[in-house]
Amino acid sequence: MVTGREGLSPVMVGRSAELDRTVGLFAALGDPQVAMVSGEAGVGKSRLVRELTGRLPAGTTVLVGRARPSAPGRPFHVLLEAVEPAVRGWDRIPASLSAREDPLMLLLAPVAPRLAPCEDRQYGGEELLQAGIDLVLELAGDRPAVLVFEDLHWADADSVALLGELAVTAGVPLLLIGTYRPEELSRGHPVAALMAGLDRERTVAHVNLDRLDRAATHELLAAVYQRPVPFRVGDAMHQRTGGNPFFLEELIAAAGSDNPEALERVALPWSLSEAVLARLAGLDPRARRVAETAAVLGQRIPFDVLGGVGGVGEDQLIGVLHELVEGGVLVESEPDVFSFRHELTREAVADHLLGRERRRLHEKALGVLLESGSDLDVARQGARHYLRVGSTHQALRLAELGLTEADTDLDLLEMATRAAWAVGQLGLAIEHAGRWLTAAEGDPPAEVEAMRLLARLYWEAGDRERHEAMVAAAVTTAEALGPSPALAGAASTAAESSMLRGEGEAALAWAERALTLARELGVEDVVPAALVNKGSVGRSGLDMDEREKLLKEGIEAAQARGDHHTALRGFYNLLHLRLYSWPLEVSHATLRQAIDVAERAGRDDWSGPNLATVAIELHVLEGDLTAARAAAAAGRRRSPGQTGHAKYRWLDVKEAELALASGDLDRATALSEDLAPVYGTGTELEGWYHGLRAQLAAARGDLGVALEEIRRSGVTPEPEAGFEAMIAALHAGADASAVRALVAAMREAHCDDGTDPGWPDELEGALREAEGDAQGALEAYDRAVAFPVTRPAPHAAACHLGAARVLVSLGRRDEARARAGRADALLCRWPGPQQAEARRLFAELGGRARAPTTPVPGSA
Ligand SMILES: Nc1ncnc2c1ncn2[C@@H]1O[C@H](COP(=O)(O)OP(=O)(O)OP(=O)(O)O)[C@@H](O)[C@H]1O
Ligand SMILES: [Mg+2]
Repeated sequence: MVTGREGLSPVMVGRSAELDRTVGLFAALGDPQVAMVSGEAGVGKSRLVRELTGRLPAGTTVLVGRARPSAPGRPFHVLLEAVEPAVRGWDRIPASLSAREDPLMLLLAPVAPRLAPCEDRQYGGEELLQAGIDLVLELAGDRPAVLVFEDLHWADADSVALLGELAVTAGVPLLLIGTYRPEELSRGHPVAALMAGLDRERTVAHVNLDRLDRAATHELLAAVYQRPVPFRVGDAMHQRTGGNPFFLEELIAAAGSDNPEALERVALPWSLSEAVLARLAGLDPRARRVAETAAVLGQRIPFDVLGGVGGVGEDQLIGVLHELVEGGVLVESEPDVFSFRHELTREAVADHLLGRERRRLHEKALGVLLESGSDLDVARQGARHYLRVGSTHQALRLAELGLTEADTDLDLLEMATRAAWAVGQLGLAIEHAGRWLTAAEGDPPAEVEAMRLLARLYWEAGDRERHEAMVAAAVTTAEALGPSPALAGAASTAAESSMLRGEGEAALAWAERALTLARELGVEDVVPAALVNKGSVGRSGLDMDEREKLLKEGIEAAQARGDHHTALRGFYNLLHLRLYSWPLEVSHATLRQAIDVAERAGRDDWSGPNLATVAIELHVLEGDLTAARAAAAAGRRRSPGQTGHAKYRWLDVKEAELALASGDLDRATALSEDLAPVYGTGTELEGWYHGLRAQLAAARGDLGVALEEIRRSGVTPEPEAGFEAMIAALHAGADASAVRALVAAMREAHCDDGTDPGWPDELEGALREAEGDAQGALEAYDRAVAFPVTRPAPHAAACHLGAARVLVSLGRRDEARARAGRADALLCRWPGPQQAEARRLFAELGGRARAPTTPVPGSA
């Protein structure tokens, strides 16, 4: 069919020194030699490697594996890609490797479908690593050979370790080449650690590629146009691209002419992604559509899938693909399989699409995949793909489909668990995780992985007992492995657990341990969670600024790794930390960012109920009851299910409070009853649950029950859970001394971590008012509203209203009227009993009724 071209310029310009140096390494082979080729995206690392392999003696064995952003953690994925062409057809392990037969069968299973691995033994990483090394040595043979690992910044730790081992295997004539983008290598990345080790042994040649200089840029242009290019044009292009060859190529393609002078005349884009998109803009709309579809589908796009998803007939599609290949957008990487000419092109096109479009394309692709036969591979690949792009419902369907054929497949079980969790099916997620754990038995690192996620799921389901047992099991299993990625992971889970249970010191200690281990061992994937946990701990001795900084670092690290759950936890905890001290616009903007992440990741649990609770708090701060109730309803719509489901626990509490505020006792009661089976004994929520029941009892005038429920609300270290109910009870006529006793008990048990420090003063005002101490009450209410943090509008109003009442009793009616007026104003969007009271008092004092409410900007 069609073939692609590999770069616009037929010759590689400006790199002769680098090329000679690497060719020289090959010529000198006796022991292994290592070349690390680094440079920014598009600078020409892959091109250099290609030219190098072109210069080797005919018949030299060259194995090339590329790391993929889509598979960062998958064990040995780079190695497997490098050996796949050689082993794809194997139906047994060659005799020369018989000593490693079993681990090799297991290792190669993903790329050599005809090998039948024996299922009854699991192999540790070390055995697989040795098998991988022997395999490479066998494939390389006795003559000098080359092994290339491309884009190491996305590589898995096992492939990197293998590279490191090979580098120090004496007597082997092997040239090892790695390429990477330095800007994507964080400090603890396995590759950074590898290079530090190799540097110590002085066995590595660093080949850093800079952008092309002016002369090389001219040369490249001349090579593309097959004739010298005017100096003005060359200089202008050099200035515009800074000498990045990929960007240069894109601009040349965007100008779209055989005439270099045209480069001066046409309006050229200024950024790389703009350049890519400009190139697409020139295409026929049908071709553009196919390109967008391909960008979403990933790196390898089979012809059939492309046709099925794009809804284009076969003949048309062939024409369109011709156009895309001619235009340098796609290449035919294997017969009937297409790829983007460059990953940078795919990224630019995919990023340009809206989340909605992306998701729609994926849904179609799923249909096509399923029709094309439901073999295991489709299920596995598809599920992984959908999880990565946030089409979690599709991922769940595919993983479960795969499990009908291979019900103990660890990958599928993990993906099914994660997908079920993401779509908010907590029970189902727990089931899959349980099977995953059983299937992982005998493979401690895999067990720890399953236990960690299971621990989280139990917590979310409000099952504290099983949660704690699972955390303990993960720690014990991991401790037995010694310092290891599994132990770093288990420590991070222990930190999270302590944090969730309000054990500040333990949380900090575990988070430190996780961070130290992660950095020592180069296991970057637990770093974001460790940072988030550390920043999320209340009562930890860290101040708010330090915590905010940690959380932001954690969020950034999590996003860089595609760890959506941790990023979302970071956002959630950051918002809770700052809601009362940030300007409202900042909170709104941060919340929008979080929702965006949740939507992209297909995390319905987050974009639905979890973040809805934050939205509600924000609307309460603003005093907009209607918006708050709407946010609650929207949260349920995004992740449908019955009330009283574990995933709605916090939402149920918040919504019940809103129902109470609007005087809808029936709804509040129903929600509190739904909560009863799921609030979870010993969880933070338990206190809020009892606080809510106390408020309900107070609203019904049942003071005995109210006080008893308040006492029970003291089980959590969050006094706020009971404060609101205490105030409600006082308003309903509870005896002030009984409430004082409860306050004292609660103070003794806990200290407030001060997210809303206006609370104690509001309560004190209500107590003094009930005790008949008008002056004391007035002072306390004034302190509460003067507190230098944002107070929720209804609470500020309650203080003004209280102040108005005591001012009346002191005979200071003018001041009382002013305060009632302020309460009334604050409650203008808070229809319910409180608003009614403010209006009545204001009117009684001769205040003039407010005009009908006009919406305040920013609260829509
Ligand atoms: N020195 C050069 N002379 C001519 N063309 C070049 C040169 N360097 C790079 N190119 C072309 O620029 C484009 C980008 O180069 P390449 O793919 O090698 O970049 P890279 O550094 O591997 O990028 P990435 O980090 O994204 O993998 C290719 O089409 C390549 O052929
Ligand atoms: Mg490359």
